[in-house]
Amino acid sequence: MSLIDAARAVRENAYVPYSNFKVGAALRAADGAVYAGCNVENVAYPEGTCAEAGAIAAMVAAGATEIVELAVIADSPTPVTPCGGCRQKIAEFAGPDVAVTLATTDGVTKTVTVRELLPFAFDTEQMSKV
Ligand code: THU
Repeated sequence: MSLIDAARAVRENAYVPYSNFKVGAALRAADGAVYAGCNVENVAYPEGTCAEAGAIAAMVAAGATEIVELAVIADSPTPVTPCGGCRQKIAEFAGPDVAVTLATTDGVTKTVTVRELLPFAFDTEQMSKV
């Protein structure tokens, strides 16, 4: 199953009573396994979690920590783009050249790199003086 198909499938399980905007994310880890997540909202709105965060949590829970490819899908007019917080979460586990495919449920896709999603990312190098 392709990453987009995995993201499309998990998107169906999104819990979105507040936004009604379902998102699915799937990533391939260095071990070859695919981990998927959907957004899970909460009546206390800030407690909701994004699809990307769910996929990353599933990967880490399984013992993997390196993303080699990632896909996100939603019923959006243009390929859905991860929020700022998720870009930082992705950059924690994916190198700058890792491909991120953004997709609409209608089949439009756009592939970008993690570097393009999060230029000038904050990383451990910036704490090297402490
Ligand atoms: N959302 C995601 O899960 N991932 C994204 O890339 C964009 C936004 C979710 C958060 C919230 O549940 C809903 O979409 C509307 O913002």
